[in-house]
Amino acid sequence: MSLDTRYPALSDLKRAAKRRLPHFVWEYLDSGTGDRELGLKINRAGLDAVPLVPSVLHGHCQPDLSTTFLGTTYARPFGIAPIGMSGLIWPNAERLLAAEARRARIPYGLSTVATRLPEEVGPVAGEMGWFQLYPPADPETRRDMIRRAKASGFVKLVMTVDVPADSRRERQRRANLTIPPRITPAMVWAMLTHPTWSLGTLRHGKPRLKLAEDYAKNHAAASSVAHAGHAIRGYPDWDDLKATRQEWDGPLIVKGIQRPEDAVRLKEEGVDAVWVSNHSGRQFETGPASVTQLALIRQAVGPAYPLIFDSGVEGGLDILKGLHQGADFVMLGRAWHYALAGLGVTGVRHLVDILTDDLVTNMGMMGAHSLSDLRPWAA
Ligand SMILES: Cc1cc2nc3c(=O)[nH]c(=O)nc-3n(C[C@H](O)[C@H](O)[C@H](O)COP(=O)(O)O)c2cc1C
Repeated sequence: MSLDTRYPALSDLKRAAKRRLPHFVWEYLDSGTGDRELGLKINRAGLDAVPLVPSVLHGHCQPDLSTTFLGTTYARPFGIAPIGMSGLIWPNAERLLAAEARRARIPYGLSTVATRLPEEVGPVAGEMGWFQLYPPADPETRRDMIRRAKASGFVKLVMTVDVPADSRRERQRRANLTIPPRITPAMVWAMLTHPTWSLGTLRHGKPRLKLAEDYAKNHAAASSVAHAGHAIRGYPDWDDLKATRQEWDGPLIVKGIQRPEDAVRLKEEGVDAVWVSNHSGRQFETGPASVTQLALIRQAVGPAYPLIFDSGVEGGLDILKGLHQGADFVMLGRAWHYALAGLGVTGVRHLVDILTDDLVTNMGMMGAHSLSDLRPWAA
């Protein structure tokens, strides 16, 4: 049976991932925040509600999906969003995903709280590497992280601003996941019953927040909190944004924006692109769907300003909806990790194919010969 017969959609890869992951890892990856996880449902409902009307008699549509975004040409208008502790979800995930991104010529976002250093991942991602910054409290730490990201070859800086407080993530709490992971009897049992994940983790070493640890050593707070990310974290404001803008001379993207007025101000402050996202319902359980805000933000910033969109994208049709509602680029987070955990690198390549095929097929239904045919807002 071919891959496409066994795993025609992301939901098939997701099922395979659930089988191969220990429960505490699954809960970390799959959960939102809030007892009812409304944010996940609202994002899904928002995407489902976007109306697209097929257009006929356009001949054979064989669209070129390549697109130039902030000075780099990508083969497809979608990519891999930054995921903290990616290497906990699947051993060596950061390097595996960065290599696949380079192969498919799609962006790869490395999180500040990844389990690999920028120096270990930048050269693997090459031109496809984006470095995601959770702004640290100490300006010297921020400057040094920016310097290291640049020296490691990352071409875009993504400043994430939608984590001003810890969310509760009740499912994660119930699963008793701590960062870094603390070994409990339940965890040992989970590891014994999921040998592929466990052997890979043994081979690649216990997942650690390596970059944050480099700086947490110098902080008094580090001795009282186990989580190195917490020891260095900042609570950014507009002055931090201005400083980051001055310190990074390449394209700067700000991630986690939902209000049109925030997007307009970021544009005025010299930010090169805004990433419309609600962290896929992991931070704040209520509020509108990310795709709903995307359309409003597009109206507010005008047709030429670069916008990225994510939160809840599960297939090529959702990517199409994101492009149609105002995005230049659409990112996915969990999906790549379902694919990697389910089938390894084969799963990631298969997901690139699924998304591409689904996008092209649905563009055909819309009579779109090119990505620009999909953008009513640009007309
Ligand atoms: C397990 C997990 C960890 C994440 N870690 C980060 C992170 O470290 N930095 C960040 O900017 N966003 C992080 N995000 C948010 C993603 O970058 C992205 O916005 C989101 O996953 C997109 O939604 P999707 O997973 O529905 O595709 C994380 C998301 C998940 C699911």
